[in-house]
Amino acid sequence: MCGIVGYTGKNSAITPLIEGLRRLEYRGYDSAGIALGTSGKLFIEKRAGKLGNLESSLGDQLPSATSGIGHTRWATHGGPTDNNAHPHVDNEGKLAVIHNGIIENYNQLKAELQAKGHKFHSDTDTESVAHLLSDLRKEFNGDLPAAMREAVKTLRGSFTLLAVHADNPGVIVGVRRNSPLVLGVGDSEYFLASDVAAFIEYTKRAVELGQDEIVVITPTGFEITDLDGNAQTPREYQVTWDAEAAQKGGFSHFMLKEIFEQPKAVADTLIGRLTDNNQIELDELKMSDEEIRSLKKIVVIACGTAYHAGMIAKYAIEKWAQISVEVEIASEYRYRDPIIDAQTLVIAISQSGETMDTLMALRHAKAAGARVLAICNTNSSTIPRESDAVLYTHAGPEIAVASTKAFLTQVVAVYLIGLHLAQVRKELTDSEVADLYNELLALPAKIEAILETVEPLRALTRTFAKSSSVLFLGRNVGFPAALEGALKLKELAYMHAEGFAGGELKHGPIALIEEGTPVIAIVPAGHEHSLDEKMLSNIQEVKARGAQVIVIAEEGAEVTGATHVIRIPVAPALFQPVLATVPLQVFAYEMAIARGNDVDQPRNLAKSVTVE
Ligand code: AGP
Repeated sequence: MCGIVGYTGKNSAITPLIEGLRRLEYRGYDSAGIALGTSGKLFIEKRAGKLGNLESSLGDQLPSATSGIGHTRWATHGGPTDNNAHPHVDNEGKLAVIHNGIIENYNQLKAELQAKGHKFHSDTDTESVAHLLSDLRKEFNGDLPAAMREAVKTLRGSFTLLAVHADNPGVIVGVRRNSPLVLGVGDSEYFLASDVAAFIEYTKRAVELGQDEIVVITPTGFEITDLDGNAQTPREYQVTWDAEAAQKGGFSHFMLKEIFEQPKAVADTLIGRLTDNNQIELDELKMSDEEIRSLKKIVVIACGTAYHAGMIAKYAIEKWAQISVEVEIASEYRYRDPIIDAQTLVIAISQSGETMDTLMALRHAKAAGARVLAICNTNSSTIPRESDAVLYTHAGPEIAVASTKAFLTQVVAVYLIGLHLAQVRKELTDSEVADLYNELLALPAKIEAILETVEPLRALTRTFAKSSSVLFLGRNVGFPAALEGALKLKELAYMHAEGFAGGELKHGPIALIEEGTPVIAIVPAGHEHSLDEKMLSNIQEVKARGAQVIVIAEEGAEVTGATHVIRIPVAPALFQPVLATVPLQVFAYEMAIARGNDVDQPRNLAKSVTVE
């Protein structure tokens, strides 16, 4: 986690740094700081709390500087205090470092550096790097890039580091290992950042940086080398979205904007996938028909909301393509001895493409011989780069910490994969595939219709603001939707919330129901296996024990026992989560507002979780 930005060029550094940090705040927001390069010394300011605290303390007494580095933090080692905020400096106050990730051997480094006389002023792992670099820079006669190359050889863990020295403040040195860093190439100005969002306003020319590559930016250019100092060829690409896409566009919160962008995001992810002769076109999978036919198993690895999309993949792919699908929490996966081979397809789902748990699970799967396909929303991020193939979702930048449009597009992406596999394996006929694809194309308008009628739901939500606990029930694909509804409510409203499979209720969770407990029940679409009737029985069971039941059901479906009913448009049963999740997102959003919480940046969280 943590957001990092560096600027050197022809203009004042402060605006790109602060604006860059604002766009990276989704990565962490418990403290922020900057170091500005002025001749012979560094101007450093850092503050606990959100970026606004740093801005207030900066006032208008800033030195003029055309280079600098900035950091927005999500605390790992050391609490969110002024002292622990980045940048961290050496004992001369001339060398400053910012860091995203974890230095695993910092204790040992710290002890060695203290023995040499270095004084530490924070509880962070990062500060040891500032002292280490300071010593090495002296050893290498003031050559900061050489010092960084040497330092990195002794560091263990995951890190992106940027360093600057007062004697040559226009030179910023960066490195990445298992954490993101991207270079922006402007017109006589250069940027380093955790994410292109930080510099998109200035340039769309971006350069990928590989593992253990050292990058040096100056006002006149950049250089990338490996740890031995060998020049590396830059891998440049154009960023395809613009600054406007990352603004709130008149909505009170990014989350609300992103909820309302869902029809477009889903439509964009689906566009142009069916050929004139009814074939699902997914060249991105890079798998021959023969390879698809010989697949024995699919394993989905993901975290949080992306994991819920993976659960939906299991229902859809098993039903359509008749391939066994396992869904694994990425952070658990690599600490087992999973049974995988070359006939296993591993699908890694990640909005950010930087989630460390998912990345590590992916590497584990690759090492065991599996083929890895990423479903990702962020171009050129680490997870797609390390996968054998990638299917990009087209949700556009998702800024709010709570995932909404990324989830819906992940679900749609797994439907596309399921249909493609089913078609190639001849488990569905071309006309069945075409019918289902056309049903997918109808989803954006149906989401739109739900969004046009959310006002009563928002009012209803506020009446539950004082509840201490909310339960969510679903069956079949409604179960992952229930889990997603509960996760949204936890992260935004800070309420106890749990999602259950309706059938599990009587095996324990029903004991949680007391007079007035809100229960949100999703009635499965259609009548397959009488799941709709079984859910209506579950509703009666919780109602009989005092629950207030909010039911989500498709238009026309029979509902009994509900305190409130939210209708969603009719769609094939497997597609229902794309619709049923929308009111759940609105419920969580409105609850957060009613309880006075920060919607876009909920406490303790970060958008991109780049530590294990
Ligand atoms: C969702 O609202 C969460 N903030 C979180 O669970 C998220 O989905 C998870 O951390 C995975 O992130 P990724 O999709 O970027 O890998």
